[in-house]
Amino acid sequence: MTFRRRVFCFYAFLIICICIPPCFFFLNTLLKLAHQQHSLDALAWNESRLQFKSVGNYFAVTPKNGTPGVNYRLPFSFKYRSCENIARSFEEPLSARYHPRPAAVSPLGENAPRAYWRWPGNISKESFESAAAREWPGCLHCMNIVRYKVLGRKLYVAESAPGRRHQNVAEEMLQVVLYLFPIPDMEFLLHFGDGCVNGLPVISWNVCRQFADAGFTMPSYTVWERSMGPMQLMLYSTCLEKRYPARKRKPLVIWRGSTTDTQLDKFTKDNYLQAIRIRLHQFARKYRNILDIRIVQFFKCDDFVKEQLNDTGSWIAFERFNKFCAILDIDGNSWSDRFGQLVHFNTPILKMESNYTGYFEHLFAPDTGIIQFAKDFSDLPEKARQLVADCQQDRRRGGTAGGRGRRIAKNMQVASQTLMDQVGIAEAFAYTLQVYKNLSSWEVDPSLKGFKEVNLTCCSFTQVPKLLAAAVSEYHGRTP
Ligand SMILES: *[C@@H]1O[C@H](CO)[C@@H](O)[C@H](O)[C@H]1NC(C)=O
Ligand SMILES: *[C@@H]1O[C@H](CO)[C@@H](O)[C@H](O)[C@H]1NC(C)=O
Ligand SMILES: *[C@@H]1O[C@H](CO)[C@@H](O)[C@H](O)[C@H]1NC(C)=O
Ligand SMILES: *[C@@H]1O[C@H](CO)[C@@H](O)[C@H](O)[C@H]1NC(C)=O
Ligand SMILES: *[C@@H]1O[C@H](CO)[C@@H](O)[C@H](O)[C@H]1NC(C)=O
Ligand SMILES: *[C@@H]1O[C@H](CO)[C@@H](O)[C@H](O)[C@H]1NC(C)=O
Repeated sequence: MTFRRRVFCFYAFLIICICIPPCFFFLNTLLKLAHQQHSLDALAWNESRLQFKSVGNYFAVTPKNGTPGVNYRLPFSFKYRSCENIARSFEEPLSARYHPRPAAVSPLGENAPRAYWRWPGNISKESFESAAAREWPGCLHCMNIVRYKVLGRKLYVAESAPGRRHQNVAEEMLQVVLYLFPIPDMEFLLHFGDGCVNGLPVISWNVCRQFADAGFTMPSYTVWERSMGPMQLMLYSTCLEKRYPARKRKPLVIWRGSTTDTQLDKFTKDNYLQAIRIRLHQFARKYRNILDIRIVQFFKCDDFVKEQLNDTGSWIAFERFNKFCAILDIDGNSWSDRFGQLVHFNTPILKMESNYTGYFEHLFAPDTGIIQFAKDFSDLPEKARQLVADCQQDRRRGGTAGGRGRRIAKNMQVASQTLMDQVGIAEAFAYTLQVYKNLSSWEVDPSLKGFKEVNLTCCSFTQVPKLLAAAVSEYHGRTP
């Protein structure tokens, strides 16, 4: 290398070294500014812009006018990552929505519960104690009931509780709830199982709503684990809209899943025709032109059953369901847990009618937030055909106006975006506790005999803003 070349290289190197950091800094600042702007947009949208109308077992939830939205430029790596992943990788700011609330939690508009419940009159101490001592001979999907106390907005759990994963997820949620909302001193019971425990004053992931004493609900572990902040949800919906535009949908209704069933635990030659998902798989064979519905995974099936289902499908990630005109949803062990993810999509959900009710399901009314089909599938082909035709029409219109299916999907997405971000999820749990307390007809015994304080470090099951995590941990006596 000549001397001049060396000097040139040296200066070039120097210039690059000097310029790159400020460039990064500048870009970063620009991105942060954009970030802030969008977080403001996300926060300007709240439940006061939704209207609630009681219809049968449901509430029809619709935006009063307009819908939330940002015109966000997605990162370059956009094509290679899921929208969920992209949304999560944005650092949610600790906006005012995450500040502790002074006032007790209230119901939604039109007195709609924030979390579904049904219970006649008060909860007596006797029924509380007998539920706490309950065991489950012969119940397929019932598990343990765990006893809790709240005293001075701190959480105590029975020493005898097994402390398994689902319990820890609920306790993490409760610690956030206690930090954010003024929960009175109280006692309550959480049920960690998929089955319905009507008749007992306990709080479960789902209830069988046909019973007047169905009980109370809390957000499920999956809902909490997959929760996002308001701004992340805004990015999520923007990403879905860009990646899965109406004009590119496949003219089919999609479903993939395993054989799990509300009634059956094992599937054999003698009982498999009672399994609803297996029946659906077989039914769909006759309508391959509109229904792409297949079992992908056998769960405790004997060889005979596997032979009958020799046309299984391949697994499709839930987010990719948005490539299709509509998404079918059907019960699993009991309620459809995946519905808590599907509600964030921009694709209409064709959902089987069911009495199993997750905490939020009453807010997605047939013909407003979802489209419902009968349990015997009698109206499924017709409803699927309508949705596919509607979606194909959207395609011809270039996806601008949007027919009935898209309108319903939009209602669903706006409701979930507004009410089911991580603060909304915590608020729903707080609501259940408040209702439970209101109905409890005894004074809480302040003794802590047999209880221990819950002091997990926030948050290991879901991603919350760092400052919130630190504040929650500190509040519950942990050094973050
Ligand atoms: C909701 O937003 C409106 C403005 O759009 C604001 O006036 C109101 O205080 C907000 N409500 C809550 C509960 O944040
Ligand atoms: C699948 O099973 C059916 C009987 O249930 C049979 O008629 C068919 O030939 C099988 N197909 C394959 C590819 O094995
Ligand atoms: C819900 O429960 C009611 C009352 O038991 C029953 O008549 C109805 O068929 C159930 N619905 C479904 C979809 O299972
Ligand atoms: C609990 O009871 C109080 C007083 O009756 C009432 O104002 C409040 O709305 C109730 N809370 C819930 C969540 O129902
Ligand atoms: C429920 O209990 C409260 C006291 O905790 C009492 O004021 C109220 O009248 C009771 N309601 C019913 C329906 O028994
Ligand atoms: C919190 O939990 C730790 C164990 O993880 C325990 O050693 C500590 O005493 C607990 N703190 C309080 C305030 O209960």
